Amino acid sequence: MRLLIHNDYESVCQWTADYIIQRMAAYAPSATKPFVLGLPTGSTPLGVYRRLIAAHKAGNVSFADVTTFNMDEYLGLKPDHPQSYRRFMNDNFFNSIDIKMERTHVPDGMTSNPEKECAEYEKAIKAAGGIELFMGGIGGNGHIAFNEPGSALNSRTRAMTLTTETRIANSRFFEGDPQKVPSRALTVGIGTVLDAREVLIIVSGRQKARALQAAVEGGLSHWCPLSCLQMHEKAIIVCDEEAAEELKYGTVRYFKDIESAR
Ligand code: GLP
Repeated sequence: MRLLIHNDYESVCQWTADYIIQRMAAYAPSATKPFVLGLPTGSTPLGVYRRLIAAHKAGNVSFADVTTFNMDEYLGLKPDHPQSYRRFMNDNFFNSIDIKMERTHVPDGMTSNPEKECAEYEKAIKAAGGIELFMGGIGGNGHIAFNEPGSALNSRTRAMTLTTETRIANSRFFEGDPQKVPSRALTVGIGTVLDAREVLIIVSGRQKARALQAAVEGGLSHWCPLSCLQMHEKAIIVCDEEAAEELKYGTVRYFKDIESAR
């Protein structure tokens, strides 16, 4: 696992956007060989999306040959609901780049058959050749996508019940009322994330510091879903100083030392 500790959120986003652009350029996507990108929602990736849009507008990157799979979606929200993740992605990213909408995938939160929808989502990822790079964020309890603590480390795409903690955290988008946050969501599984050829997780702010500490210094545990990265051959966590606050001084030195020697 690589752990990159940046001074602040802006620098986390700049590094991540540059990395995605560089990975896509090295892959040289084409109509017959699209680059398959896994994407998250949340406040944290917004700065990355803004930079990718700016790079696209400056002519430095095209998404014409990119296929995307989002991590999750609330159950029961229509795609055009202001808080649906499909709407979030359209408004904050897809509508401002040259991606072909039919190449973007977000689980269908309005499905009448969640089990079938999830099985088909897994199939679609496989049919696309698997995910090349999965970008993600984390929740304060270490969740990835909506894989709450206790999720099986080999889980696949499925419906999950959200914890009270997550509904409270996400209530800021629902008039501050946790009851208005849907209680269930469709989410890729931890196994689905681990199948990606590379996983890149961005973490910012003090409210994520404990989860980051558990994932980096603690053992592999379903109690901190982020710790699953310990099982991945090509995992990168990019965080800011605030998120690194609970790490031991020696841990920070260790990872900074490795990066400076690269
Ligand atoms: C939600 C999403 C996660 C995201 C998390 C953190 O729970 N399902 O994928 O990582 O929020 O979001 P934020 O970046 O806003 O802290």
